[in-house]
Amino acid sequence: MTALTLSTAAASGLRADAIVVGVAKGTKGPVLAPGAEAVDQAFDGKLAALLETLGASGGEGEVSKLPSPTGLKAPLVLAVGLGAVPGAPADGDDTTTAADYTDEVLRTAAGTAARALTGAKKAAFALPIADAEAVGAIAEGALLGAYAFDAYKETGRGNKNASKGKAPLAEIAVLGAKPRDKAHKAAVARALAVTEELNRARDLVNTPPNDLDPEAFAAVATAAAKEHGIKVQVLDEKALTKGGYGGILGVGAGSAAGPRLVKLSYTHPDAEKHLAYIGKGITYDSGGISLKPAGHNETMKCDMAGAAAVFASVVAVARLGLAVNVTGWLALAENMPSGSATRPGDVLRMYSGKTVEVLNTDAEGRLVLADALAKASEEEPDAIVDVATLTGAMMVALGNRTFGINANDDAFRASIHETAEEAGEAAWPMPMPEHLRKGMDSPTADIANMGERMGGGLVAALFLREFVGEGITWAHLDIAGPAFNEGAPFGYTPKGGTGSGVRTLVRLAERTAAGDLG
Ligand code: BES
Ligand code: MN
Ligand code: ZN
Repeated sequence: MTALTLSTAAASGLRADAIVVGVAKGTKGPVLAPGAEAVDQAFDGKLAALLETLGASGGEGEVSKLPSPTGLKAPLVLAVGLGAVPGAPADGDDTTTAADYTDEVLRTAAGTAARALTGAKKAAFALPIADAEAVGAIAEGALLGAYAFDAYKETGRGNKNASKGKAPLAEIAVLGAKPRDKAHKAAVARALAVTEELNRARDLVNTPPNDLDPEAFAAVATAAAKEHGIKVQVLDEKALTKGGYGGILGVGAGSAAGPRLVKLSYTHPDAEKHLAYIGKGITYDSGGISLKPAGHNETMKCDMAGAAAVFASVVAVARLGLAVNVTGWLALAENMPSGSATRPGDVLRMYSGKTVEVLNTDAEGRLVLADALAKASEEEPDAIVDVATLTGAMMVALGNRTFGINANDDAFRASIHETAEEAGEAAWPMPMPEHLRKGMDSPTADIANMGERMGGGLVAALFLREFVGEGITWAHLDIAGPAFNEGAPFGYTPKGGTGSGVRTLVRLAERTAAGDLG
């Protein structure tokens, strides 16, 4: 785990492997951002000109490494691009103040720099800081960028060709912050709690499905809950059968590893509101009898990313001691084909009592979520939010970096959107066109688990809505796109599991605790 400190040390005397400064893309070339003054002095005020000579522009994601001049103890200066000078000055004046840089620009730059410093021990970040939020954003970005998953890269047993990569940046010092300032200290504590749990969610997503079945996931959740004073309850197959959880059981029926429903209850004595978070936890989605073709199942270990996000956010909320009650529900099952698997044509009797004709066993997420939604509704929380890698259709609609928000309440959908934006997560509100409901009419059961192909993400949301308790505010986050990054890393986002949804859920709990929601 990466350590983080606030430092008042002068850049010149600082002992570190590297000093990170920010450079923005000005109208006439790269412009140093506030925070870089002392480093620039060591370059006789010529750092911007030097960067331009090197071909740097200050564009987002750009990294330039320079050997330090004699005035600096740290041997390396890393200039990270911040993107266009904020405000795009028409008058050509490129001077900026720290307040011009948004939290997300800082988060992204810090993450890019931390990734570029993989293998280094310690780096000092001299980026623009206007307030405590900026301190938190830099800390968050750097800690999320300093992530690697190499638990399965073998180094032991005399393996000479060890494929383990370099270790992530081990120590981060944020310069220009105030180590004794209460707000600055709180921002760092928050960043540590959120990013450590978010990185743990990434680990869970990246863990191969032969090592993370529903039972193993439940064990990880149980151990963490105990450590953080969260009440935990695990329903195994026997308990699920007794309770009538036909959706979760139906999806898990084909697997040798039985399903689980995990309930995590965090409570605070001063809480006035109760949130329920529900995560889709398909530890592997083969499609079941409606088997996915080759090319579509290699990354399906990521199908528990919703449950990982819910788990991580509940633990983070507990670590932050927020004054809100949060119940996390992890709907865990492995979707496999076998002689005992649910068939297309089978009818499941769900926890709510509704019957579902399973037309496609690959539309399994909505089945496990339906049971969890109905169960969570019994406690009449103030709001329910489910998080799921639910549909390929949502990826087609919104791409790989944005999650969709559906809700049964327009105001709640808008406030989730706002919350996501505040947290630095890209999201977009999606509609629930009523005419799509009839596509799920079944001649045999109350509803089918599939409808029209067009608008598949919206159809899935309409299905889920049927299992939300009467009068309960509900939102659904379809994170199928952003949950798993198959492309190159960018900003603070690594390859593989991303931790999508965690920051939005934590922020929602914070806003709720502060009385911002209803
Ligand atoms: N887990 C998938 C959705 C998914 C696809 C997530 C790609 C991440 C990447 C889900 O269970 C699924 O298979 N959905 C089907 C539903 C269809 C059969 C109605 C889909 O989207 O094709
Ligand atoms: Mn599926
Ligand atoms: Zn799935």
